[in-house]
Amino acid sequence: MTPENTSANQLPPPQPDTSVLEIWGQSTLEGHVRISGAKNAALAIMAGTLLCPQPCRLHNVPSLLDAARMGEVLTSLGVKIHQSGDALDIDARHITQFQAPYELVNRLRASFFIIGPLLARVGVAQVPLPGGCAIGARPVDFHVRGLQAMGAEVHIKHGMVHAAIPGSRQRLQGAKIYLDYPSVGATETLMMAATLAEGETIIENAAQEPEVEDLANFCRAMGARIRGAGTKTLIVSGVPQLHGVEYTVIPDRIEAGTLLVAGAITRSNLQLSPVIPEHLGAVISKLQTMGVHIERPTPNFLQLHASDALQATDIETLPYPGFPTDMQAQFMALLSLSNGSSAIAETVFENRLRHVAELKRMGADIRIKGNIAIVTGVPQLSGAPVTATDLRASAALVLAGLAAEGKTLLRGLHHLDRGYDNLEGKLKQIGAQMKRQSEDSSDRAGLVQTDVAAT
Ligand code: EPZ
Repeated sequence: MTPENTSANQLPPPQPDTSVLEIWGQSTLEGHVRISGAKNAALAIMAGTLLCPQPCRLHNVPSLLDAARMGEVLTSLGVKIHQSGDALDIDARHITQFQAPYELVNRLRASFFIIGPLLARVGVAQVPLPGGCAIGARPVDFHVRGLQAMGAEVHIKHGMVHAAIPGSRQRLQGAKIYLDYPSVGATETLMMAATLAEGETIIENAAQEPEVEDLANFCRAMGARIRGAGTKTLIVSGVPQLHGVEYTVIPDRIEAGTLLVAGAITRSNLQLSPVIPEHLGAVISKLQTMGVHIERPTPNFLQLHASDALQATDIETLPYPGFPTDMQAQFMALLSLSNGSSAIAETVFENRLRHVAELKRMGADIRIKGNIAIVTGVPQLSGAPVTATDLRASAALVLAGLAAEGKTLLRGLHHLDRGYDNLEGKLKQIGAQMKRQSEDSSDRAGLVQTDVAAT
């Protein structure tokens, strides 16, 4: 989980992002890719260990920067973390601090999810208000309002969210909460807080994402009483204390979806496992609509067969089980090479179309109207220097580079490293031609010349 040369409790100071990924396009891929544990389940489950006064052991936590950063946040609160082989031992018996440092929370938005378990466990939590990011303002008002409904006093001052259980009360109180939007993070924060509350909490219009369900299953393994996980209505009956557990994180459906698109965009034959195909319903259905052949030879295995022509299709991102916003950029790269025009509507985040400009540098024909991108397929993309703007945009640009004629130089790799467990290594292992190197050693003349041409 942590880079080789550091202990589990610290990461190297952030380095300026000077590396680039050189991708030589149009190689056919072939073979099997192992799918890692789900980033968005692992991060929530790591936060959930704060609920537990006994050690927990987690398996299948992906090795990526965001997981290491969540580990740093937990460590700053007094949690002991030790990696042994593929297992991550997290011991939250002694929480010595209830304020998470700004510089750590600021590097990982998801660490805000500690507010629910920390407040429920120790009665007080001070967590910096997470900033916005490239894809949107990312407010946390649903989290705050839900905790207030459960009896917490919550106020925001100097960029810090102060939450406390008032007076002599030791526990939050069960409440009936309706979420204006099925927010994944708010559902997770409030579900975790409710596990130790007094009485019953009902969360209506809850998020149904598989990562929410995995977190619920982890909490239930610790002794929490949760019903309706994976549905729109969650019912949590609070208990006084939870117990330690050994738990395995589900496979990452977005990594699997990204690799399915890698196979489709390079007209390759790929096998992926482990996967839970039910978590990829909308993604597989869209790929099949486009003409991609996908089989499920065994329960946790997917086989993708090369297909020659890809057909255009429309996409609207929605809360699960709708089409996932985290697959929107990757599909835009694929649809850029399909026959016909596609309309992609991004309805979850207000600013998640920033990869359009970079794909257009590679020859894609895309027009934006509000939150809708109109993609008209072109016969070929051409390699170019491009810059990633966020995590899934970086993946989309890798996929476009795999299909493009010539060389693509991708900068902004810190986005990729945050959210994918060695995506480069997995792609190279099945035949992708790519190499990561410092910007100095790559083709600077080409970079400068192209940039000048582009201005
Ligand atoms: C989670 O983010 C994921 N991150 C995101 O994955 C994912 O895109 C998103 O859910 C939607 O599926 C993690 O799980 C760590 P939301 P989250 O709360 O919880 C608005 C990736 O690429 N909202 O479901 O932050 C919000 O602005 C990342 O892996 C409020 O208005 O997403 C957004 O428009 C990106 N108030 C919408 O809800 C709130 O209090 C959905 O956000 C909370 C959210």
